[in-house]
Amino acid sequence: MNTISQNNRVLSGMRPTGLLHLGHYHGVLKNWIELQHSYECFYFVADWHALTTHYEDPSIIADSTRDMVIDWLAAGVNPGTATLFIQSRIPEHAELHLLLSMITPLGWLERVPSFKDQQEKIKDKDLSTFGFLGYPLLQSADILMYKAGFVPVGDDQVAHVELTREVARRFNHFYGREPDFENKVSAAINKMGKKNARLYRDARKRYQEQGDSEALSIGHALLESQQHISLSDRERLLGYLDGEGRIILPEPQAMLTVSSKMPGVDGQKMSKSYNNTIALREDPDSITQKIKTMPTDPARVRRTDPGDPDKCPVWEFHEVYTDEATKKKLAEGCKTASIGCIDCKQYVIDSIIEELKPIQQGVNEYLGDLSGVDSIINEGCEAARDVAQDTIEEVRKLMGLTGRR
Ligand code: TRP
Ligand code: SF4
Repeated sequence: MNTISQNNRVLSGMRPTGLLHLGHYHGVLKNWIELQHSYECFYFVADWHALTTHYEDPSIIADSTRDMVIDWLAAGVNPGTATLFIQSRIPEHAELHLLLSMITPLGWLERVPSFKDQQEKIKDKDLSTFGFLGYPLLQSADILMYKAGFVPVGDDQVAHVELTREVARRFNHFYGREPDFENKVSAAINKMGKKNARLYRDARKRYQEQGDSEALSIGHALLESQQHISLSDRERLLGYLDGEGRIILPEPQAMLTVSSKMPGVDGQKMSKSYNNTIALREDPDSITQKIKTMPTDPARVRRTDPGDPDKCPVWEFHEVYTDEATKKKLAEGCKTASIGCIDCKQYVIDSIIEELKPIQQGVNEYLGDLSGVDSIINEGCEAARDVAQDTIEEVRKLMGLTGRR
């Protein structure tokens, strides 16, 4: 079955739990910035998500929300192309979360791997809360609210997108069935004109009888190209292609970020919980200090002892920052003890400072114009709310709620 959205919308969120660091930049932000050239992007501050694990320290959330948006902007997220907003300012997310919770079996949530993993890993907080269990479903609501086609996430989040797909399928199964579905479909097909109607029926037949997925793509493309059909007819025809009913909430696809894993200054993955980060706002002296005190290959006790880059955490930074020719030279120098670790590290220090310079300039400019930042956020929230209100109206009606009048 393929009810995957064909649309061009990307949605992603980030939790406001402190200052952004190089791990966020290389792992997420660069990708966001790239995507905004080819997709309609919605990026948001997931403050409710942060509360599911940080309910005891709300000040972190309050302090980092606007700063996080500033860091996004300084890094190159473009508010002219992407819609930037704050989750809790669109309360429709909470309503959709509630409504979806009615049809979500408990077992689906209990089986999400992050649920047990995190509960076991994070011992200093009580995570046996209703909010924490429901957190992946809140994420589903975030995604389905905007009917996003694609969700850029790290591999720890793929299971959440998978859950979202299951919830969407269940929703469409319950509420996408109209009593006179077949008649409405026929009417909609006829509106496409003879030639397209024939192409559509052919594609559907080929897909349903032979499982020809190319035919399904042809069907989708055909619907995409129809300028004049109404949204609900489009949903019907999309749903009829694989015979389910109307597709109200399209199934999103996870977009796995292929990024270099950013090491921390201790050789583990860079993460706030390991206390090994370099913040985007880190000043040059502090960057220098952190890299200079990094551990290296333990075999290099003295300057004259040869080392092995493969056993050195600093080398992982070279993998991210240094060109092949220089890397070759440095590896040689390390193995023959012809360069010292201080010299080798200097390349990394220079690269990081160089990379962060324009970002830090941007941060300072935005910090000097907070009301400008707030307008960007306000406008983003308004645009997001427009979309969210349409979806929630549609969902309310389908679930028997008359909605506001
Ligand atoms: N759960 C994500 C995280 O912890 C953040 C998030 C919330 C998100 N809602 C989302 C990501 C929707 C993508 C789409 O990092
Ligand atoms: Fe690591 Fe470079 Fe020192 Fe070799 S020379 S141990 S790669 S820091």
